[in-house]
Amino acid sequence: MDHFLYRDGALYAEDVPISEIAAAVGTPFYVYSTATLLRHFQLFDDALDGTDHLVCYAMKAASNQAILKTLAQAGAGMDVVSGGEYLRAKAAGVPGDKIVFSGVGKTADEIRTALSGGIRQFNVESEPEMEVINTIALELGVVAPITVRVNPDVDAKTHAKIATGKSENKFGIPIARASEVYAHAASLPGLEVIGIDVHIGSQLTELEPFEMAYTKVAELTEKLRSEGHNIRRLDLGGGLGIPYTRANDAPPLPVEYGALIKKTLGHLGCEIEIEPGRLIAGNAGLMVSKVIYVKSGEGRDFLILDGAMNDLIRPAMYEAHHDIVAVNEPAPGVEQQPYDIVGPVCETGDTFAKQRNMPPLAPGDLVVFRSAGAYGAVMSSEYNTRPLIPEVLVHGDQFAVIRERPSFDEIINRDTIPEWL
Ligand code: LLP
Repeated sequence: MDHFLYRDGALYAEDVPISEIAAAVGTPFYVYSTATLLRHFQLFDDALDGTDHLVCYAMKAASNQAILKTLAQAGAGMDVVSGGEYLRAKAAGVPGDKIVFSGVGKTADEIRTALSGGIRQFNVESEPEMEVINTIALELGVVAPITVRVNPDVDAKTHAKIATGKSENKFGIPIARASEVYAHAASLPGLEVIGIDVHIGSQLTELEPFEMAYTKVAELTEKLRSEGHNIRRLDLGGGLGIPYTRANDAPPLPVEYGALIKKTLGHLGCEIEIEPGRLIAGNAGLMVSKVIYVKSGEGRDFLILDGAMNDLIRPAMYEAHHDIVAVNEPAPGVEQQPYDIVGPVCETGDTFAKQRNMPPLAPGDLVVFRSAGAYGAVMSSEYNTRPLIPEVLVHGDQFAVIRERPSFDEIINRDTIPEWL
C-alpha cells in the first residue's frame, strides 16, 4: 500500500496534488511519501517483533539524506556499500553503531573512514579484504567487528543482473569454505568475529530461496559455534520483492518473511539484522514526467516524455516494468489506446514501455511512473547533459525539495580544460 491516490480525479502524494508540485519544481522529478517510507519500515520492524533485531535500510535504494533521516528517526540502522554512503549516513545523523558496511570491494580508504567514524560491523566478502581490515584496525588501535558473507549457492529466481547467491556470482565466500575462513578471521587480532552475513539477491517474489539460504545459515551457525566461534549476530540481507504491477503481483509480505526468519533461525538466540532497500523505498516514490509530443509512427503512436532513461534506467537495464498512469484520472469508460512511451535520449533503449494502454494524452499532460522510489534517482545520470532531476519529499500537506535541479552552468563548469588547450 502507498499514499499516492486519486482524489476528485487528480493524483495526490499524501495530501498534496502532484500537479501542484509539478508547477512549483518543473518536470521531471521524483517525489517520495514520508508516510509510505515509514509504513514500510514499520512493517519490517513489526515482523521481527519479539526478536532482538535491527532493520538496516539498504540506502543504495534511495539515499537522499532527508529519506535517511526520516527512517533513522523511526529507529532504522543503515546498510552502506561505499565510503560515500557511509559519510552520507553519518551526515544524516545515523550513529556509527547503527551502520553496517557491505560491498564486495571495500578499499583501504573506505575501511579507514568507517573504522575511524565508528561502525556496527563490516560484512566481509573475501580473505584479502579481511586482511586489510585487520591491518587498518591494528594501525588505528581498534578492533573491527565483522561477519563473513557466505554464498549459499541458492537460486534467488530473480533477474540475472540482481541475483547474488549462486556460486558463480562474485559475492561472499563459498559456504563450503566457511570453517577455514572463520578460523583465519579468528586468528587476526584486529578482528572480532561476531556473526554471519548472507544476501542472495533482489526483487525476490517467493520465500523459498530465503528459506533455503537461511536454513543453511542456521546449520552453519551451529557448526561454527561447535568450532569455538561466538556467533551471535545474523545479517540476512535484503531482497524481498515489491508488486510492480498493481493488477497481478503479490510477493510475500514482510510479516510472512519475518515468520520465516523466526522459524528457520529463531532457536539460535542470535540478534537478527535485515537490509531491505526496495521494499521500503520502491513504492514510496514516483517519477513524474510531462508529455512533450505525441507522434504518429508506423502503425504506432509514441508518447514522448521529458523524462528519459538517464532519469530512470530500470526499464532499459533490467527490462523492468513500471506502471505509468496519468495524473488526471481518466473519466470512467474512457477508451484506452496503446502507446510506445519513450524519452528524448538518442537511443532506442530509451523506451519505458511498448504498446502500453493509456488514456488519450496530449502535450503538457503529466504522467507518473509508479514504484520508482528504489533504484530510481540513485541510478540516474547526466547523459545527454540532462540535469539530475529534483527530489521532493511530501509529509502530509507539506512538501519540500530535498535535492535541487542543478543549473546548466553548474554542470558545465564542473569540467576543467587543460592548459594546453
Ligand atoms: N544488502 C545487500 C548486500 C545488497 O547488495 C542489496 C541490494 C540489498 C541489501 C538491498 O536489496 P533490496 O531489499 O533492495 O532488494 N538496481 C537494481 C537492484 C540492485 C540491488 C543490489 N543489492 C534494480 O533496480 O532492480
